[in-house]
Amino acid sequence: MAFNLRNRSLLNLIDYSERELHFLLDLSRDLKRARYAGTERRHLVGKNIALIFEKTSTRTRCAFEVAAYDQGANVTYIDPTSSQIGHKETMKDTARVLGRMYDAIEYRGFAQATVETLARYAGVPVYNGLTDDYHPTQMLADVLTMREHSDKPLHEIRYAYLGDARNNMGRSLLLIGAKLGMDVRIAAPKALWPPAEHLEACRAIAATSGARLTLTEDPRAAVEHVDFIHTDVWVSMGEPLETWDERIDELLPYQVNRALLEAADNPRVRFMHCLPALHNAETKVGARLAERRPELAQGVEVTDEVFESPACIAFEQAENRMHTIKAVLVATLGER
Ligand code: CP
Ligand code: NVA
Repeated sequence: MAFNLRNRSLLNLIDYSERELHFLLDLSRDLKRARYAGTERRHLVGKNIALIFEKTSTRTRCAFEVAAYDQGANVTYIDPTSSQIGHKETMKDTARVLGRMYDAIEYRGFAQATVETLARYAGVPVYNGLTDDYHPTQMLADVLTMREHSDKPLHEIRYAYLGDARNNMGRSLLLIGAKLGMDVRIAAPKALWPPAEHLEACRAIAATSGARLTLTEDPRAAVEHVDFIHTDVWVSMGEPLETWDERIDELLPYQVNRALLEAADNPRVRFMHCLPALHNAETKVGARLAERRPELAQGVEVTDEVFESPACIAFEQAENRMHTIKAVLVATLGER
């Protein structure tokens, strides 16, 4: 292997250099091609990986499971309700138990401090499968997808993120773009911008990577001439449901709809979403919102028209969760 990431945790992309990120992206591409070509080699035979989910998941759980199985590893899924974690046992104690049985641990939950405690005491690599603050494995998939849909070098790609930019996705998209020298535009009302200290850290990184970071309250200005437009749900897991009314009022001007796509003035612009997406009234949450606000029946953060259009590459992005998570597992745990 060209680069040594053995036994490294992935808690926050801030700990990874630009070259290390490129290495993981290259490895993801190689593993993806090998899977399609039927030439994949197994680097994780006999490894055991614990998957702790204190919040629900479709993509992250399935991506870790399939990546592990493809590579010959075993997994244990620990769901949000049936373990002792938090009820009778601290994360520090859990870490010391699981670290004796498993070769690595994935954790999805609430506070970033919890995944850091797990990593401090487990003695094995820990991967952040989403916290309130960061979603690092999602970022690898997002950048791999952008790379696959652009002929430009990464540092020439321009993308915008519209929506709640204080959340894990907003912060992470700002950070990964800063690391990789990209042109990142964040559009949200000021109250939903990333915290000042995060912004400062990203600006410091951008000073050496050459990244262009723009924060604005103007959604149309943000998307001008971008290659990709990202958004995310307006109310994240763990936030109270009462947040919805206020959030809709704040974020409706940032909805990704046809007019917004046209404002990019780029016929090749692509739409991205980490999923799950509220783009119609066919889910419980979507139906409830449409009952209260009929205009949302056609979509909340993105309209159904955009989501179902050829511009939407969210399902390729979802597939890439698996290839990129596999690269993280192989790079940190794999036998050469
Ligand atoms: N994008 C993402 O993390 O999806 P899940 O919540 O389904 O894991
Ligand atoms: N911001 C969203 C991301 C879901 C993958 C959440 O935390 O719910």
